[in-house]
Amino acid sequence: MKFAQYLLKNSRMVGIPKQVERFAKFSPSPLSMKQFIDFGSTDACEKTSFVFLRQELPVRLANIMKEIDFLPDKLLGTPSLRLLTSWFTEALVTVRNRHNDVVPTMAQGVVEYKEAFGVDPVTDQNVQYFLDRFYMSRISTRMLMNQHTLIFDGSVNPAHPKHIGSIDPSCDVVEVVKDAYEASKMLCEQYYLTSPDMEISLVNSKNPDQPLHLVYVPSHLYHMLFELFKNAMRATVETHEASFTLPPVKVRVSLGSEDLTIKMSDRGGGVPLRKIERLFSYMYSTAPSPVHIDNSRNAPLAGFGYGLPISRLYAKYFQGDLQLYSMEGYGTSAVIYLKVRGTHAHMHTHKLTNSHTHTHKPHGPSLTTSCAVVIQALSSDSVERLPVFNQSALRHYQTTPEADDWCMPSKEPKKMGK
Ligand SMILES: Nc1ncnc2c1ncn2[C@@H]1O[C@H](COP(=O)(O)OP(=O)(O)O)[C@@H](O)[C@H]1O
Ligand SMILES: [Mg+2]
Repeated sequence: MKFAQYLLKNSRMVGIPKQVERFAKFSPSPLSMKQFIDFGSTDACEKTSFVFLRQELPVRLANIMKEIDFLPDKLLGTPSLRLLTSWFTEALVTVRNRHNDVVPTMAQGVVEYKEAFGVDPVTDQNVQYFLDRFYMSRISTRMLMNQHTLIFDGSVNPAHPKHIGSIDPSCDVVEVVKDAYEASKMLCEQYYLTSPDMEISLVNSKNPDQPLHLVYVPSHLYHMLFELFKNAMRATVETHEASFTLPPVKVRVSLGSEDLTIKMSDRGGGVPLRKIERLFSYMYSTAPSPVHIDNSRNAPLAGFGYGLPISRLYAKYFQGDLQLYSMEGYGTSAVIYLKVRGTHAHMHTHKLTNSHTHTHKPHGPSLTTSCAVVIQALSSDSVERLPVFNQSALRHYQTTPEADDWCMPSKEPKKMGK
């Protein structure tokens, strides 16, 4: 049963479909990194935040709920998907915690569907389109809920007093790379009793001796890097089982005026080009069902095949990207692109400090000031990337399987004579 029909037939839910219709008419309002920062530091007002969330969370949820109807009926009919869609109808207060298991449960639904009905390219395309947007919407609503709860819980994070909610206005990229490497290395050694070293090199194009800082959500960056390290280490160890030494995983971080780029290269044997796209597919993921991998000792370095697609969403969330370049027989480079305009900073610090935090120090810029410079350096480039349900989105679900518009080479050579 389609989700909207399900709601209509469920008497307890009377009134909800109307709400979904109403909120789906609004487009989500993407926030820029600057707005997140400004709001969380200088203009923080709990009431304003509440009023914004009260409108914005239902809008983002309603937009993606409209799309859930366009999944194949049989996928929606699986017990897991029915369970999952029922969650949407409850109140928002406990939303975030209750929805902690959305990703594995959705993945389980896809596995159940696949086991029963197999995979075809059209369903794969629809599910891919939907899940990329569904998980992106989820990343964004959790970001809003996190910002609200972290900023207004009345305390300062003692470990990170400068953080604004989950955002670090001066995120040290190399620190995050090292943390993610260490965590992955630990898993790798537990399982394989060995792990490759890391070599890291930095390029700061404008200020060669300065550390590489960025306004970003460290937990998002950590998530991406941890996934990439696990993949690189697994590939490296498994292709060099017979040798005494392991080639290191090389990481290069480069800061330009527009992009901060992180490239991670391994010599783990690579992946053929034909398979690269599938590594990002939710449907074609080769991984076992998540119920079987709960016992994570079996495969500590691999999950249910969602490492790459979800990491790419984190990168895209603030207008970045994640791409894989591979040379089969040799190794793979994974590249994370993040938007920055840090080097465009000008020393305009007025209007940036408010009366509470402005402390004049006689020598050098105060911490407030240097933080303010970073904040002002943010351009509108790092704005949230959000799905919106409209005619174009609808069209994506309504495409019928068409004949390929490129020739397929036939097995028998054509007789050209007659
Ligand atoms: N650096 C790499 N070298 C070789 N194969 C890789 C690499 N990264 C990813 N892969 C392949 O892509 C698959 C999907 O990766 P991922 O999305 O992280 O899911 P998982 O690791 O849970 O299988 C892996 O199982 C592996 O086969
Ligand atoms: Mg992985």
